[in-house]
Amino acid sequence: MDILTTIAEIRRARAGRERVACVPTMGNLHAGHMSLIDLAHRHGSTVIATIFVNRLQFGPNEDFDRYPRTFDADCARLDGAGVDLLFAPPEGELYPEPQQYALLPPPATADILEGEFRPGFFRGVATVVAKLFNIIAPDVGVFGKKDYQQLLIIRAMVRQMAWPITIVAGETARAADGLALSSRNGYLSPAERQEAPRLQRVLREAADEWRAGVSDVLEIEQRAMEKLQRHGWRPDYVAVRDPVALHTPARGARQVVILAAARLGSTRLIDNIEVQAAQG
Ligand code: PAJ
Repeated sequence: MDILTTIAEIRRARAGRERVACVPTMGNLHAGHMSLIDLAHRHGSTVIATIFVNRLQFGPNEDFDRYPRTFDADCARLDGAGVDLLFAPPEGELYPEPQQYALLPPPATADILEGEFRPGFFRGVATVVAKLFNIIAPDVGVFGKKDYQQLLIIRAMVRQMAWPITIVAGETARAADGLALSSRNGYLSPAERQEAPRLQRVLREAADEWRAGVSDVLEIEQRAMEKLQRHGWRPDYVAVRDPVALHTPARGARQVVILAAARLGSTRLIDNIEVQAAQG
């Protein structure tokens, strides 16, 4: 695996390659990231991973400085997984001057849910992904459903900008107890780590309620939030939504996604579940 740290180098290394599949990450790689690398191999003949902890998408009180950086271990994993090129620029390479030009996703999808609790987050994500795509010009971009709203926003961005890039979505990789893998799981104390799978269990129960015909979305959301609160969580939201536009689903909608974000101690976890109502 070649490791490139400048824009000029990655452009040179990418030139002339066909079916380039790109997997953007912020490093601290786990099996979830690696499942996206496997998916990238299925959709491209060259796989490019990126590692860049993007300051633009962190709020002033968020964890940019303490975000886990494990570059050597990450390189070993990517190399072992057959990644062809790794683009890992220092901050000054991607942002040599203040990044004043930005890609601004529409408020209707970017200022709700994660965007409500993390103002500017999706502007930061969209801007860095746009920049990485401009630099790498991949044919395929691979993103995880773990960050469901991010996936939808990137899909819409690529579509509306008419970039010739196919966005491929990977399923959420989970620990044996159901907890969605996340770099932020490392912040959890042993007791919190034991409690953490409840987020996914509560989402599954909410999904069961929807499938069983409970049509009052607020009731499902409220019940789920209360279950979390009873066990010491501080939920930001549990939301039953349309899986494409993220608005409140129509009565009797066949498909919804239920998304949640909640704090356990000082760690903020997110998860979601796609729900397909039974036929009939
Ligand atoms: P990061 O959190 O490192 O995630 C990189 C990619 O891995 C994202 O597409 C994310 O959805 C996916 N991912 C994370 N956990 C996963 C899991 N348990 N199973 C499957 N996929 C998982 O998301 C970002 O970085 C950044 O916002 C980025 C897109 C790189 C822009 O800075």
